[in-house]
Amino acid sequence: MTAKTALRLDIRNALARPKDSKDKQLGIAPQHGVSQAQLESIAPALETAIEEIKTQRRFSAKQLAEFRIRGEDLDLGFLDQPRLWLADSKTLAQLKHKANQLARMAEIFIVAGIGGSSLGARVLFQALTHPYHNELPRRQRKNRPRVYFEADSVDNDALTGLLDLLPKRKPANLSEAFTINVISKSGRTLETAAVFRILAQRARQVYGPDYTNYIVATTGSSSASALRKIAEAEEIASFEVPDMVGGRYSVFTAVGLLPAAVMGIDIEQLLAGAADMTRKCLSRTVNSNPAARYAAVHHLLYRKGKTIRVMSVWAKALEHLGYWYDQLLAESLGKDGRGPTPVTSVNTRDLHSRGQQHQQGTYDKAITNVFLRKPLREELVLPATKDHSDGLDKLVGKNLHHLLVAALNGTNQAYRFDDRPTIDIMLAGLTPYALGGLMQMLMIATVIEGKLLGVNPFGQPGVEAYKKLTKKNLGLS
Ligand code: PA5
Repeated sequence: MTAKTALRLDIRNALARPKDSKDKQLGIAPQHGVSQAQLESIAPALETAIEEIKTQRRFSAKQLAEFRIRGEDLDLGFLDQPRLWLADSKTLAQLKHKANQLARMAEIFIVAGIGGSSLGARVLFQALTHPYHNELPRRQRKNRPRVYFEADSVDNDALTGLLDLLPKRKPANLSEAFTINVISKSGRTLETAAVFRILAQRARQVYGPDYTNYIVATTGSSSASALRKIAEAEEIASFEVPDMVGGRYSVFTAVGLLPAAVMGIDIEQLLAGAADMTRKCLSRTVNSNPAARYAAVHHLLYRKGKTIRVMSVWAKALEHLGYWYDQLLAESLGKDGRGPTPVTSVNTRDLHSRGQQHQQGTYDKAITNVFLRKPLREELVLPATKDHSDGLDKLVGKNLHHLLVAALNGTNQAYRFDDRPTIDIMLAGLTPYALGGLMQMLMIATVIEGKLLGVNPFGQPGVEAYKKLTKKNLGLS
């Protein structure tokens, strides 16, 4: 599959009809939609943004340090990660070796991290493994462990619940064993550190002096990372989060790749999708560049007062993609009193809850559908029944996906008639290649949008302030 076929962006339902027309077939009301003239007028700013990204991507360590001194992060390293991993077969093999070892030695694999150190891996788990992975017998899980996510809060009862699944003494066999991948780029995040202490204590209790064999740390290289110090002192195997990759942009580093490989996901395909998409989003002209086009249309809609950005995913397996994008957008652009507010909705489920408001509430929403053109699994067909009272007889023999397509088209039409802009991202299928491309496209689009908005898409001064104040309240600093 190529980047060209894996993902298609369709902005037709966000376009405005001509000013003198009332024909709703021709588009939405001009005050709510984007005109061709507006798209053309933003093209030079897009070209400048892309050129700037390309220049800054090649900055030397000295130039980057100068930016940092001015308090500006410039974490464009995520652009090169897919290509670098694919080119470095030795490091990739080491990561896969460790992942296979972790998969072989235990029945439970715990990913302990928060924010950018958790959400990407969670997307990959939900989207690219069986919907009931954890409930399946091991053989049907292709001999991969059950996967749990923790440290994404300091929630006593949630953690106690997980501890209930873990053994209290040395397991007799693999079916009771567990491993931990603790992930924190800074190595100083309260939630991760606190939960890791408790999980590591259980590991020590269960495995004795060898407990560190069951733990892998993924953290920054800096000596400021307490987690790196712990890993070095206790001889815990570790992987590195590169300096130039910010947390929410780190899914294609060991942060996302190690858990994905433990889950049995084809990480080469994931990286290939992201690498191909990077080339497409940095080297093509604006009109055939999905990240530039995505950023342009959303930025123009934001300027028209569409300050709520709804990512409507049309597959349950993509719900966490929505939450990952929530973080990407909110932490990257929500600064200086600006930035769209992200919302995730899962359809058709949320058509029966939020849908009414999205269609006829305040005119402040831009809706982006993420739709899979083809289901991944065996297609289910509507059977005939003896009782015809549900009125579905005409659909006998049609597959379930046919109903979903009808719901998407019906929703888009209804929204158009109510002057609500929608954008479609059509994915060829839920493959590692397509998902890799989509996630990379959204990261690049966010950086471009930051430049259009005049906001630095890297760094999260607000989050850092909350982290500091919480620690101060606990008497830690
Ligand atoms: O995007 C970010 O940088 C943040 O959301 C971080 O990922 C999050 O705060 C966790 O930080 P760390 O990986 O340092 O524990």
